[in-house]
Amino acid sequence: MTTLRELASEAAGCTRCDLYRNATGTVFGEGPGEAELMLVGEQPGDVEDRQGRPFVGPAGRLLDRALADSGISRRQAYLTNAVKHFKFQQSGKRRLHKPPNRTEIMACRTWLESELDVVRPAVVVALGATAGAALVGPAFRVAAYRGMPADLEVGPWHGVLVATIHPSAVLRASGPDSRDRAYEGLVADLRSAVRACRIRSGAS
Ligand code: URA
Repeated sequence: MTTLRELASEAAGCTRCDLYRNATGTVFGEGPGEAELMLVGEQPGDVEDRQGRPFVGPAGRLLDRALADSGISRRQAYLTNAVKHFKFQQSGKRRLHKPPNRTEIMACRTWLESELDVVRPAVVVALGATAGAALVGPAFRVAAYRGMPADLEVGPWHGVLVATIHPSAVLRASGPDSRDRAYEGLVADLRSAVRACRIRSGAS
């Protein structure tokens, strides 16, 4: 049986697409190997790329707060990304995030499949459109899936998918009112994922 440590070490040398050329390194998932909840983001950002850990920048801090408000701590969940290298465009000293394309998402999907197979979470949360597309396919739309638990099979894993917005969509929302509304929506969807976890594990 492959372990997360073995997978992470293999992924550290990944050259399945070109993103490894400019990124500092692979940012693999982290969290308990027996987590019941797995959260999948888009790709590491600038801070994550430098620190080599997922969700440790501004979006990660917001996600930590939203998880706590949903009744689960970050330490109980396994956090990863659909794409494990930071894709960016250099603009002076700044590295501006660029969304991964379908080829990059598909090249990285093997790692996501393996993480699901090893962790075997009851519920996987897609944080935004890229994560949803990686898990469901290119027809995925956040608006069509969000907050509603749906059965999902990815490779040998099967379980429940709950989709929601990406935490950076909350940070990008213009004005405090729409930011609050976006945050409340994120928390409501995460609560739905936590409920689905409890139902799956028989704790209701
Ligand atoms: N955004 C993501 O999708 N993932 C991270 O790890 C950080 C920011």
